[in-house]
Amino acid sequence: MRISLVFALAFAIFSTCVYSQGVTLVPAIITFGDSIVDVGNNDYIHTIFKANYPPYGRDFKNKEPTGRFCNGKLATDLTAENLGFTNYPPAYLSPQATGKNLLLGANFASAGAGYDEHTSLLSHVIPLSQQLQYYKEYQSKLAKVAGSKQAATIIKDALYLVSSGSSDFIQNYYVNPFLNKASTPDQYSSYLVGIFTNFIKSLYGSGARRIGVTSLPPLGCLPAARTIFGFHESGCVSRLNTDAQQFNKKINSAATQLQKQLPDLKLVIFDVFKPLYDIVASPSQNGFTEATKGCCGTGTIETTSLLCNPNSYGTCSNATQYVFWDSVHPSQAANQILADSLIIQGIALIS
Ligand SMILES: *[C@@H]1O[C@H](CO)[C@@H](O)[C@H](O)[C@H]1NC(C)=O
Repeated sequence: MRISLVFALAFAIFSTCVYSQGVTLVPAIITFGDSIVDVGNNDYIHTIFKANYPPYGRDFKNKEPTGRFCNGKLATDLTAENLGFTNYPPAYLSPQATGKNLLLGANFASAGAGYDEHTSLLSHVIPLSQQLQYYKEYQSKLAKVAGSKQAATIIKDALYLVSSGSSDFIQNYYVNPFLNKASTPDQYSSYLVGIFTNFIKSLYGSGARRIGVTSLPPLGCLPAARTIFGFHESGCVSRLNTDAQQFNKKINSAATQLQKQLPDLKLVIFDVFKPLYDIVASPSQNGFTEATKGCCGTGTIETTSLLCNPNSYGTCSNATQYVFWDSVHPSQAANQILADSLIIQGIALIS
């Protein structure tokens, strides 16, 4: 894995223009979506979906809880490092999102957000439509900081990352009888993928040309899903994994269509299903000892963020051998494996 990563990066470096102001492979990273990529926007809004208290962040720089739903770095933090960034693009709602910091990009993601507007509204988090509005506001701020010419270059050459869909199923579809009686998982997936298509068209219309979007993870392997939906099933909840795979098929064909329709667009769907499933299926081969429970939180209560807090009973002392940090989110150790896979899958975006 490590060896192929090095080759992939060497290839990327030789085939990519290295920017004169630094050694990053893209000038900026601009991120939309949910808790897989949120770096702290929810700290600034009224929602229960927050991770700005211990033990979140206990393995992060200065042991600081930042709003990241992890003990340490997110997969996208590690991807930024792999691309040469020494600082992370700021959470757009944070005080750090100002001046020269905006040159690195910005993060608009909000834990709990989905493709479906209702998913986000249910959790009182920032819907994708609002994230897009913030992005447009960001563009004018960037033009003031960088000048309109350099801003246009940054917008065009930046790497755009989108992570969404898990909250639509876990926090909305599966627990909302109005929704799951009215439509099959397949129908709901088609609905979500339609929103995805429009979102990518809007991003493209605003100037984005290199976009990476995560697929759904194996939803049925998340500790919370095993607890809530697993009943007597011993392994991952196969019904949820099947739904995730169907969604992933649809989003991949939608991406193929978009790629044909929109000139100069580079669009990659990152497969996170397989790498995460492989770790859960063979933990010891990947350096893990626990793949069914999160390090923090018992998985007996539905609400993710309330599960893991300073009073959580039995939080593990060292998360490096846990695939999951809490009942929904991978640990930094698992994120490292995901990030290695993302950079290889995303070569087309940065070359
Ligand atoms: C956790 O365990 C790993 C080895 O499994 C070790 O390298 C690391 O230092 C430990 N971290 C802490 C905080 O004890």
